[in-house]
Amino acid sequence: MTAFPKTTALMRRGADFLGSDFAILCGAMSWVSERNLVAAISNGGGFGVIACGAMTPELLDAEIAATKALTERPFGVNLITMHPQLTELIAVCGRHEVGHVVLAGGIPPKGSVESIKAFGGKVIVFAPTLALAKKLLRSGADAMVIEGMEAGGHIGPVSTSVLAQEFLPELAADHLVFVAGGIGRGEAIAGYLEMGAAGVQLGTRFACATESVAHPAFKQAFFRASARDAVASVQLDARLPVIPVRALRNKGAELFTAKQREVAGVLDREEIAMAEAQLQIEHYWAGALRRAVVDGDIEHGSVMAGQSVGMVKEEEPAAQIIAKLMAESEAAMTRRSA
Ligand SMILES: Cc1cc2nc3c(=O)[nH]c(=O)nc-3n(C[C@H](O)[C@H](O)[C@H](O)COP(=O)(O)O)c2cc1C
Repeated sequence: MTAFPKTTALMRRGADFLGSDFAILCGAMSWVSERNLVAAISNGGGFGVIACGAMTPELLDAEIAATKALTERPFGVNLITMHPQLTELIAVCGRHEVGHVVLAGGIPPKGSVESIKAFGGKVIVFAPTLALAKKLLRSGADAMVIEGMEAGGHIGPVSTSVLAQEFLPELAADHLVFVAGGIGRGEAIAGYLEMGAAGVQLGTRFACATESVAHPAFKQAFFRASARDAVASVQLDARLPVIPVRALRNKGAELFTAKQREVAGVLDREEIAMAEAQLQIEHYWAGALRRAVVDGDIEHGSVMAGQSVGMVKEEEPAAQIIAKLMAESEAAMTRRSA
């Protein structure tokens, strides 16, 4: 007998797919989603995902092994598609028999989905448009995340509520769709599950869990912030299309403007190609996020956070956050059916 019968019933498909108690993923957060948080999420009944980010295959190998030492529950690995060693990273996941690989940051390159499926891994993709979602499903993706612009980190242009209305009626009956972006409480989870979502993915709400290794200054910045402090970065130059990033407003935004100016300059002088320019921007973000998460420089680093940051008020164990979300969802569903 579960304490959350209505919510778990609607989460069943998603939880069966993930192998977790609840279909709540903690989205990968570079520097934050390492062994401690990932294991705590999975041990708490959710589904933790290691953020590979810019890690080398050797580092990923060590991180997976260390996570396995902390949990016997399933967890996933998030790989960025533009990583130059994507093939090797997939091989590392294969050697560890990672059950689920999330491919983030763009359309999966040719052969990547197939090589994950070849070792028995399930593939989760991000789908920015309905047309692309259908194409990715046809080419073997097992599940997808739709993520609205309320989210922390790299974002698309459309809100979660609109994406949910576009995707769920069309795809949810036959496919596993997880909804992400702006979810801070269980009432929202209930709403998306009732619309057909297989589950949800949260990042911001989990970033300051007790088990998160994020610097105390990073966590304090979250506790102080309100929704309107989590702003999207601005594109400086039309010739250099950069994916916007949502983070807490600080001096780091000016540094990003300077970085864009520098990269646009070398692009203009044809010293580098567009792909290399975009990779440089991504390296910049990885470094800026590290500065905030690891070093605690919340003024000049990038304090990536979603609009739900205003609902993050204190450190809580991951298991407690998950239990709260489930209880809120259950209460909402119970009120509606009363
Ligand atoms: C600090 C931070 C870092 C993130 N880093 C990554 C990342 O490395 N890869 C990725 O796919 N998503 C990343 N995300 C997005 C999360 O995985 C998740 O999808 C998102 O946080 C969900 O929206 P929410 O923040 O509104 O809960 C990051 C989010 C945050 C807040």
